[in-house]
Amino acid sequence: MTRKRTALITGASAGLGAEFARQLAAAGYNLVLVARRRDKLEALAADLHQQFGVDVLIEAADLSEQGAPRALFDALHAGNTEVDFLVNNAGVAGSDLLTDRDWDEHRAFFQLMMLAVAELCHLFIPGMRERGFGRVINVASVAGRIPRVGGCNYGPSKAYLIALSEDLAVTLHGSGVNVCALCPGYTHTDFHSTAGLQDMKDAMPGFLWYDAAVVVREGLWAVERGKPIYLSGRLYRWLDPLFQSLLTRRLFRLASRH
Ligand SMILES: NC(=O)c1ccc[n+]([C@@H]2O[C@H](COP(=O)([O-])OP(=O)(O)OC[C@H]3O[C@@H](n4cnc5c(N)ncnc54)[C@H](OP(=O)(O)O)[C@@H]3O)[C@@H](O)[C@H]2O)c1
Repeated sequence: MTRKRTALITGASAGLGAEFARQLAAAGYNLVLVARRRDKLEALAADLHQQFGVDVLIEAADLSEQGAPRALFDALHAGNTEVDFLVNNAGVAGSDLLTDRDWDEHRAFFQLMMLAVAELCHLFIPGMRERGFGRVINVASVAGRIPRVGGCNYGPSKAYLIALSEDLAVTLHGSGVNVCALCPGYTHTDFHSTAGLQDMKDAMPGFLWYDAAVVVREGLWAVERGKPIYLSGRLYRWLDPLFQSLLTRRLFRLASRH
């Protein structure tokens, strides 16, 4: 009997992560759901098990803590759970590198946004390569494609995920393991309210916003087709060549001068 494939999703307790869980369960994957809020994960697990008949494992973890990815890997290894599909999705808006003076806060942010992603790739991809099949989606952002005013943490952390994913995709070409940096634009999730940015969201035009279901569907499509970087949303795909042009980047920089 062939083994049912398993998808591990970080940040599965809300937003894009919960939607990844739903769409991957619908596609027949067993799931490992990771986030800090166990109660949310339990409710989602019960729902998906009932609806799609898949097995769902819950691993409550704070990925901003050093050692969390290793503990997660060891727990799954001990239970003989092999991960075939990895979605590195957990993330927060983050603080301002210059004005926020608590370095521990920045360190925790970088640990969550970059180091945990790199470590989970480091731990899980070799097994996928050995078995000749794997899918990895690193949820980056359009913010990783453009220079922005202020913050200095979020955009650069996502730019790292884009570079990492592209490099992994090239390295793994022909191995059966596809890696994709999925770059959403503005998406309806809890992200902005959690960061205290609900007013900003309310003030922005609706055409900039996409539903999580669309972003996830496009991400799953892109990784299947072996796209190393994929911008979600037609509007953002259309704008991306402009974002990448030297002239536009220069204009962004000029516009940010006070
Ligand atoms: N929404 C957007 O407009 C947008 C645009 C571009 C990119 N993104 C990216 O999309 C990803 C998902 O965000 P979202 O929009 O779905 O936001 P969300 O609804 O706020 O969900 C964020 C998820 O990350 C988890 N998380 C946060 N800190 C964590 C930690 N320390 N350890 C483990 N899990 C943690 C949260 O779970 P717990 O709180 O339970 O831990 C939650 O499940 C993020 O990487 C974000 O940067 C979002």
